Amino acid sequence: MASVPSLASTVQQRLADGLSAALPDAGSADPLLRRSDRADFQANGILALAKQLKGNPRELATKVVEAIPANDVLKEIEVSGPGFLNITVTDRAIVETLAARAADARLGVPFSESAGTTVIDYAQPNVAKEMHVGHLRSAVIGAAMVEILEFTGETVVRRHHIGDWGTQFGMLIQYLIEHPHELDHKAEDGAEVSGEEAMSNLNRLYKASRALFDSDEEFKTRARGRVVDLQAGDEETLALWQRFVDESKIYFYSVFDKLDMDIRDGDVVGESGYNDMLTETCRILEESGVAVRSEGALCVFFDDVKGPDGNPTPLIVQKSDGGFGYAATDLSAIRDRVQNLKATSLLYVVDARQSLHFKMVFETARRAGWLNDEVKAVQLAFGTVLGKDGKPFKTREGETVRLVDLLDEAVDRATAVVREKAEKVGLSETEIVENGQYVGIGAVKYADLSTSAARDYKFDLDQMVSLNGDTSVYLQYAYARIKSIFGKAGDRTPAAHPELELAPAERALGLHLDRFAETVSEAATEYAPHKLTAYLYQLASLYTTFYDQCPVIKPEPAQEVAENRLFLCDLTARTLHQGMALLGIRTPERL
Ligand code: ARG
Repeated sequence: MASVPSLASTVQQRLADGLSAALPDAGSADPLLRRSDRADFQANGILALAKQLKGNPRELATKVVEAIPANDVLKEIEVSGPGFLNITVTDRAIVETLAARAADARLGVPFSESAGTTVIDYAQPNVAKEMHVGHLRSAVIGAAMVEILEFTGETVVRRHHIGDWGTQFGMLIQYLIEHPHELDHKAEDGAEVSGEEAMSNLNRLYKASRALFDSDEEFKTRARGRVVDLQAGDEETLALWQRFVDESKIYFYSVFDKLDMDIRDGDVVGESGYNDMLTETCRILEESGVAVRSEGALCVFFDDVKGPDGNPTPLIVQKSDGGFGYAATDLSAIRDRVQNLKATSLLYVVDARQSLHFKMVFETARRAGWLNDEVKAVQLAFGTVLGKDGKPFKTREGETVRLVDLLDEAVDRATAVVREKAEKVGLSETEIVENGQYVGIGAVKYADLSTSAARDYKFDLDQMVSLNGDTSVYLQYAYARIKSIFGKAGDRTPAAHPELELAPAERALGLHLDRFAETVSEAATEYAPHKLTAYLYQLASLYTTFYDQCPVIKPEPAQEVAENRLFLCDLTARTLHQGMALLGIRTPERL
């Protein structure tokens, strides 16, 4: 289906036509249309144009208005202030535009004209380690960006850059060799081990091996030897390493499952996946002069990156002992993503505390020519999750909070909220449990997505599952309420009636519905899912006002009015549903 123009784009076009009719020499001047509180839209472009033409802006504005022929889209254009235009559209134009969008399965959201291939690096926990709230943020924000970008027609490749390599594996593997039953499963043969059990095994093993490593010099020596074996590709050592990876994946997948998130095994390409490229990456960087040897290490220097002592802090690509680290892996991953996956954009959903690393890695890749005008790299950096006290989220004992515990608690609280209303709605026990999950997990995701990613936010479950305020459950209730209206509508069905005059709450809702496509496109191009979240919250709020002021069922309005209102209800529901789906949040039909 051809793209459906929004009201804003139609108005923009009419004004642009008026501008060029009034000022044939002005070229294609932009009327700079904005949403406005005073009227439906405001155009500010004439001010700049008048300045450029050294004319009087108010006079020019009047000329433009006169040049716009009578039509049934623009109801009123008023010249205001120094030369703004305040524009009110007709009720007919609102309803007709929405009707065209409602007829489109994509709700009028066009495919991007500049679609390319984006590789998104997100949801990247570390092997043999518990996931924490930082991993939650990366997963939630990344998954939303995947959906939003795919919806606009971008080809998206997902990459879960899990931490599955490094010297700590020497210690873990050596310990497992000396305590061979530590990763055995309690369950009977063939029965699947739970994520919980997998993680608790790994945790225990991690702690025990660390303690031994720190206290027993001989074990330390054996563990270091084991690192050498691992790097040399010794088969027995690799097989043991693989056991840690597999065991961790059981745990990761159980958490992602809880998060109602679809993570595919083929997209998990951890640090180890680039091992074969590391030597070559270093060779290219050294031969091109991008990296230089300094005290034995292969380094890249930057004028603007200095340590506290004023000396430059290099990016170390290869250590003086020949070992490769995090940077060499990320640089190799860039080569792979650009050259093999043919990415045009690389998006990294990673904690803001790694910003310096990415700044240096991206700059290095630019110098090497892997990134350039055709291929960009962006870190979608996110802030820290704080506790209620405003400090980084920790348990009372000062340990990082286990992600699973948080999610379970969110679901528990949400289930209680759902249960309170369940009788009235007539929910079965199964529905209560299912909705509790949708509401609880939705609450956690929504809290993460409702402020701009860069900001820190407080993890406050009470606030997250509150029915009033900027929460997912507020939106979920708005959706379910609309669905229940349809249950009561009898034989009345949604139908657009452009001939009707709209009530103020209907107009406000209609104008906001018109903004869905532009909001999705902004969220996609700016990597800003919070813009979509804010839009949906406002949609639910405007719907609430509409619902209070414009009866749909009782008292029974005239047939056409009822149909038109049902039409607005239906489009609101579909927009909420689609928008929430892009954020990874479910909208139960009954709540
Ligand atoms: N595993 C890392 C961590 O837990 C995040 C990886 C980010 N991605 C990357 N390409 N470096 O901090």
